Amino acid sequence: MSTSTNDKWARWLLHGRFADDPARRRSILTFLAPVRERVLDNAALSDGDTVLDVGAGDGLIAFGALDRVAPSGTVILHDISQDLLNHSRDFAETAGMLDRCRFIQGSAADLDAIGDDSVDAVTTRSVLIYLPAEEKAQAVREFYRVLKPGGRISLFEPINRFGHPEPDHLLCGYEVTPVADLAAKVRQAAEGRHPPEEHPLLDFDERDLLAWIEQAGFSEVHLDYKAEIIPRGWFEDWNAFLHAAGNPLDPTMAEAMAEALSSDEAERFSAHMLPLVDSRQGIQRMALSYLWATKPGEVPNPPAP
Ligand SMILES: C[S@@+](CC[C@H](N)C(=O)[O-])C[C@H]1O[C@@H](n2cnc3c(N)ncnc32)[C@H](O)[C@@H]1O
Repeated sequence: MSTSTNDKWARWLLHGRFADDPARRRSILTFLAPVRERVLDNAALSDGDTVLDVGAGDGLIAFGALDRVAPSGTVILHDISQDLLNHSRDFAETAGMLDRCRFIQGSAADLDAIGDDSVDAVTTRSVLIYLPAEEKAQAVREFYRVLKPGGRISLFEPINRFGHPEPDHLLCGYEVTPVADLAAKVRQAAEGRHPPEEHPLLDFDERDLLAWIEQAGFSEVHLDYKAEIIPRGWFEDWNAFLHAAGNPLDPTMAEAMAEALSSDEAERFSAHMLPLVDSRQGIQRMALSYLWATKPGEVPNPPAP
C-alpha cells in the first residue's frame, strides 16, 4: 500500500471529517450516498463513456461512475492531492479496476493534462467550493473545454452562504445566549483565519454557479437548489462537536476553544454546550445545489465495430 496522508486534503477527507467517531462517519456516508447517485444520474452516463471526476478525493463519485460506464468505459480521477490519488489507486488495484482508471494530479482550474473535446462527462462534488474566487469560473471554463460536443457536466456544491452569518445568539446552530461572551471569542477564533468576505466556502452561491456555467458556453442547463432548516443539532455527540472538522481550511471547535478561551472559560463554555450537543438541541441550516448542463454540439457517432 502506498497510501500516506500527509497533505491536508487527505488528512481531512480520510480522518478529520469523521473525528474517528463511528456515528459521525455513518451519518456523513449516509448523507453522501444519495448525493453520489444524483450526481451520477444527472451525468447520464453509459457504457463506453470517458468520465473526468475533478477533485475525486477518495473516489466517492469516480468509482460510482466506473460502475455506470462498465464494461468498457474509463474514469480519470483528477485531484490536487497526490496522497488521495495514491489512496484511490490502491483501492482500484485491490478491486481489479486499475485498467479502466487514470490518475492525474493538478488543479481544477488548470486541466492542462486533459485534451480539448476529449471526455464525455465531467463530474465534481464539493470541489469548486474550495477554490479561490478567481479560480472558480476558470475551473468551469476548463470543464467546458475538455468536454466533447454534446458532453455533460454534473456537479454538486453546498451553498454555505445560506447559513452565514449566524445570528449572535447561535453558534453552529446551538443557542449560546447564556455564554454569549465566550461564544463571540470562539466564533472569532474559528473565523479569524479567513474573513467571511474572502472565505472560499462563502464567496459564491447558486446564482454564481449558473452564471459561470452559462458564461462558459453550456447550452441546456438545469439547477436544483434545496434549502433546509432542521431543528436538530449538527453533531452526533460531544466528541464530534469538538473534533470533527467541517472542512480542511478551518479549525476544529477544540482548536478554536483552545485558542480563544482560558481553561476556566472553556469549562464554563463546555458546561453550557455539552447538554445541548448531546441532546441534539440545535438547528441545522443547509443549502445544496445540483447543476447539470450540456456542451452544445452533436455527440459524435461511435466508430463502427
Ligand atoms: C470535499 S472533498 C470531495 C472529494 C470527492 N469529490 C467526493 O465527492 O467525496 C474536496 C476534494 O477537492 C480536492 N481539491 C481541493 N482543492 C483542489 C483544487 N484546487 N484542484 C483540484 N482538486 C482540489 C481535495 O483534494 C479533495 O479531494
